[in-house]
Amino acid sequence: MRIVLLGPPGVGKGTIATTIRYTHEIPHISTGDMFRDEIKKGTELGKKFASYIHEGHLVPDDLVIACVKARIEQADCNEGFILDGFPRTLEQAQVLHGEIKIDEIIHLFAYDETVVERITGRRVCEDCAAIYHQTYRPSKEDGVCDYCSGRLVQREDDKEGSVRKRLEIHCQQIRPIIDFFSREYQVIDIYAGLNDRRKVKARILKALFGHQNL
Ligand code: AP5
Repeated sequence: MRIVLLGPPGVGKGTIATTIRYTHEIPHISTGDMFRDEIKKGTELGKKFASYIHEGHLVPDDLVIACVKARIEQADCNEGFILDGFPRTLEQAQVLHGEIKIDEIIHLFAYDETVVERITGRRVCEDCAAIYHQTYRPSKEDGVCDYCSGRLVQREDDKEGSVRKRLEIHCQQIRPIIDFFSREYQVIDIYAGLNDRRKVKARILKALFGHQNL
């Protein structure tokens, strides 16, 4: 199954994609994670990504599209994938639609204050990228990843100023993308602002697979 997850920063796309990756064995393609990996490696491309991401700006379409195309061509995507963070502009949506058959498009939404609270409290493992929240999903040991014992850190772009910028960009870009997809697909809107992660996951799994089991 080829799934596209749309939604504002911090709405929970990465959290639900991680669940689906394990329960349904579909690769999770997060453009944000791909860019952060490159930044961590200190490559020239990574330096370019950092100059956009750390200020809350979008990475230019040509760079993003090239990365996603290369990733989707890999063998583990033959049976499907979950796209998280792509498309984010109308041009990206048009390229995606022109090249690949998509099975499901889920649009997650929540109030701005909810996503700001989620992002500012988010901590991620710097080794395995597992996602935590200081209040809603704390690790067992403070600052240490439950899965790999890596260090939990705040993302560079998770400071409040950058978060507001990302939200503003999302608001400008999302409507044309949804209008475009709605002509070809049924876009499923799901309210993801409940702080009960199990309920949000159950809604999404029901929409995608017809069952609520985690
Ligand atoms: P990216 O990494 O994709 O960031 P994002 O879309 O801004 O999304 P986030 O990762 O911030 O949030 P999320 O929805 O995955 O939420 P999460 O599950 O972590 O992109 C980063 C940057 O890269 C962009 O700003 C841009 O610069 C660039 N970029 C990426 N893709 C691009 C593209 N296609 N084109 C151009 N540029 C691109 O959850 C958030 C927090 O909430 C966590 O702490 C989690 O534990 C908690 N949480 C989740 N669900 C719940 C719940 N139900 N209740 C309580 N807490 C919850």
